Order: sequence, then C-alpha cells, then structure tokens
Amino acid sequence: MRRAVYPGSYDPVTNGHLDIIERAAGQFDEVVVAVLINKSKKSLFTVEERLETLREVVTAWPNVRVDSWHGLLVDYCRTHEIQAIVKGLRAVSDFDYELQMAQMNQRLSGVETLFMAANPVYSFLASSLVKEIATYGGDVSALVPAAVEHRIVARMAELNSA
Ligand code: PNS
Repeated sequence: MRRAVYPGSYDPVTNGHLDIIERAAGQFDEVVVAVLINKSKKSLFTVEERLETLREVVTAWPNVRVDSWHGLLVDYCRTHEIQAIVKGLRAVSDFDYELQMAQMNQRLSGVETLFMAANPVYSFLASSLVKEIATYGGDVSALVPAAVEHRIVARMAELNSA
C-alpha cells in the first residue's frame, strides 16, 4: 500500500489544493489530506470546519480521505504508516520554506517529501489572498470550490455584523 499525506492549513482549501489532491491521488494508493496546525498563521475557520469542507470537496476521489492532527507531521506519518509527504510548489518563493521543512522532516523521521509543480493556472493562488479578497467583499468563486465560497461569504457576514 503506497500511502501519502498532503498536509496543510487548508484555511480554506482552494482550487490549487484540489489540483494537487487529484494528481496525488493518481500517484498513490491512498492520499490523506491532513489539516495540521501552522503556528505562524491565524485561522479563519476552526479545524472542524476545515475538515467538514474538505470532506465535501474530496468525494470525487475514492482513495482520498481527510484527517487532522495537532502534533508534528512526522509523528502523524509514523502513527499512520505513511511513506511520503506530498507538497505543491507554486513558485520559487515557496521553495526555501518547503525545502527546509522537507529536510527537517527527513532528518527527524526518514520520511521523504515529494514536490509536485503547481499547475501554472493556480500559481498565484493562496488561501491568505482568498481570505483577503473575501474580507473586502471580492468575488472568490473562481478560486475556491463552491462549498468554500458559501462558507467564506457566511463567515465574513458574521464577522461584519459582530
Ligand atoms: O498550508 P501550510 O500552512 O503551508 O502548511 C504548513 C504545515 C501545517 C504543513 C506545517 O506547518 C506543519 O507541518 N505543521 C505541523 C507541525 C510540524 O510538524 N512542524 C515541523 C515542520 S518541519
């Protein structure tokens, strides 16, 4: 069984993430899309909300499942017998940070990180920008799945009325 994890904050999941999920699902027997905590980011959605959204949007791929983890990624891999970490690279600017994490994770556990080049049509796309656009009432419908668009519009309305 070739099993990989595709970890991230997914706050929220974007069309760029879905592209990597689809392509990773074609390379492995099973892909776990795992919501992990990035201590340097402030989140808009709770982990439970992110899981619920992810579960809705990965139904097209039978070998993809969704999970969350509050500890180290390498401990998740060890506990769940995962052989590879999949990461998407949008641009050279992603590389420094991703390389450092890949090397650290390899050093800590031996688990390998496999990078997939983002589809160029998504190379500008980031969850942080989606949130910023939505904050100002901009249209994010071409950037995220419909399940995310609905939730983000609702969350912004809640925040604006608070
Ligand atoms: O989508 P992101 O925010 O770029 O994903 C980063 C994430 C969540 C995968 C990373 O912060 C992570 O692996 N967090 C779990 C804690 C951990 O293992 N940290 C050590 C990394 S070398």
